[in-house]
Amino acid sequence: MAARIISVSNMKGGVGKTTLSVAMAQAFAGGAGGGRGVKTLLVDLDAQANASFWLCGYADLTSAIESSKTIDCFFEDAVVFGKDVAVANWARPAKALSDTLFVAPSSPNLRIVERELIVFLSRRHRNLMEVERVVSDLLEQNLKTLRNAYDVIIFDTAPGISAMTEAALRLSDLVIVPTVPDYVSNLGLLSFCRSVSWSSNDPLSAKRLPWVVANKVKQTPHHQRMLKQMREAAESDEREFRMFRTEIPNSPRIDEIASDLNVDGELGFDAEGVQVFAALAAEALDIAARESVAPAGA
Ligand SMILES: Nc1ncnc2c1ncn2[C@@H]1O[C@H](COP(=O)(O)OP(=O)(O)OP(=O)(O)O)[C@@H](O)[C@H]1O
Ligand SMILES: [Mg+2]
Repeated sequence: MAARIISVSNMKGGVGKTTLSVAMAQAFAGGAGGGRGVKTLLVDLDAQANASFWLCGYADLTSAIESSKTIDCFFEDAVVFGKDVAVANWARPAKALSDTLFVAPSSPNLRIVERELIVFLSRRHRNLMEVERVVSDLLEQNLKTLRNAYDVIIFDTAPGISAMTEAALRLSDLVIVPTVPDYVSNLGLLSFCRSVSWSSNDPLSAKRLPWVVANKVKQTPHHQRMLKQMREAAESDEREFRMFRTEIPNSPRIDEIASDLNVDGELGFDAEGVQVFAALAAEALDIAARESVAPAGA
């Protein structure tokens, strides 16, 4: 089976992109829900490198950074030095579930490399759109191989908008947008969802809508009212996003785990956490299979 490609993205920070990316990756790789684990690759496109810390552990990530085995070095080698390099060679086993869970780690240097690419290409008279195209073509080329080597590929993206995020969104079967159902978190949601539909690889095909997942959900009147409004918007004829049935509760245990990246082994969610992330992962795979943008024959 060609891998399903999933981006987890929102221009708003702190809504749970990394928590959901890592928890889903662990659910896929660990065979949550009873089945066999599927081979999963998480590509960390965020210079904060939180997902990389979680999945590699401090010592292994430090060693990856020191030996230029982080994703920023891949982009620099490919674009600036014109080397024939493959993302596949940047993937390393995660510290837990290491038979099925792999990570192409990031480093804080990604921020500098992204600027370096822009400066390098603009000196060669390429505009910003073309910079995005170069990054996107490079990732697309790599995904042809990666699709055959993995069952699921997850991009954890940085808050804000960047050439790397744009490329990941364009190439994904499914774009998951975590959001907190409160007024402030939803202010930019619609404009972000519109930008996702426009970034679809094939603008002539049916509009590809992002899928919003409500995270940190509380049983407060405000959260419940916002959720109701979001679900109505997702069902209307003019909808600009769809919504996951699964909702992730605001949970002290999830917060505790996500705030302490320096844990050994798998993330130790409680029974409620395990169950909710298994449900999210199963729903995501189901949607990605229906909405696949895999080239014919892949
Ligand atoms: N369901 C949840 N319940 C309680 N706390 C949560 C939940 N999901 C995430 N958090 C907390 O919210 C904070 C932000 O989570 P996370 O780092 O996953 O967000 P993010 O969108 O990746 O952030 P950034 O934009 O900085 O990349 C973390 O401290 C985490 O502990
Ligand atoms: Mg993050």
